[in-house]
Amino acid sequence: MAKGIFVVGTDTDVGKTVVTAGLLHVLRSKGHRATYFKGALSGAIEEGNKLIPGDTDLVSQVSGLKEPYENITPYIFKTAISPHLAAQIEDNPIELNIIKAKFEKLKEKYDFIITEGSGGIICPLINRDEEIYTLGDLIKDLNMSTVVVARGGVGTINHTVLTVKYIESMGIKVKGIIINNYEDNYITQDNIKVIGKLTGISIVGKFKTIDNLDKGNIDNIRTVASRIFNDKSIIEWMEEL
Ligand SMILES: Nc1ncnc2c1ncn2[C@@H]1O[C@H](COP(=O)(O)OP(=O)(O)O)[C@@H](O)[C@H]1O
Ligand SMILES: [Mg+2]
Repeated sequence: MAKGIFVVGTDTDVGKTVVTAGLLHVLRSKGHRATYFKGALSGAIEEGNKLIPGDTDLVSQVSGLKEPYENITPYIFKTAISPHLAAQIEDNPIELNIIKAKFEKLKEKYDFIITEGSGGIICPLINRDEEIYTLGDLIKDLNMSTVVVARGGVGTINHTVLTVKYIESMGIKVKGIIINNYEDNYITQDNIKVIGKLTGISIVGKFKTIDNLDKGNIDNIRTVASRIFNDKSIIEWMEEL
């Protein structure tokens, strides 16, 4: 039976992909059969007549995962907007059955699946008829628990506590909070204490800012992740799928 965890951000651009790449590297470098999954990705990079999913590409490069991108990221949109709207504009409606079928295939092939969310917990994936299907609905349908990636600085108490409480209100477990771009200052330290008090959830990682990541310094994602996470603790967050 495969196990997995779903990485949810408090917002877009908080560092879900960077943290997920680090987590997957830690598992794979210890010899575990572990894969990445992302149901829908917006803002793919156009190369010739192909669309390259940037998140999937980074995670694969950092972790050495060799799975074809269409198996681990079934919906890829060029427009950098919410998936439900990108799907509409690009006339490529998201079919839940396709996401589930790809996920089932990965469950057969791998022991561990780390799934990255699109946007934040209420990110809409499908807007059809009267109903909106959100990221939270997908997490429930895939039967996963979550870890939340959050910023460390001003504003994070509100975003993080809202995210945790909303996830829990859907009946989904939050196994931990990872602070990204962690800086050792009094604001971040106090934010962490207050978030802990308000949510009762542990901070399971403090991921510092990586120099020159924009210039391709992905090696340091591996170094930082290996320093703060170990394979056993990541596996402990996971539930059977
Ligand atoms: N720890 C970090 N150190 C340096 N840059 C980071 C770090 N985390 C995220 N970034 C940068 O911030 C941007 C958003 O990060 P990303 O992981 O893509 O966010 P998300 O997946 O939540 O949208 C990217 O340009 C990424 O390189
Ligand atoms: Mg991402």
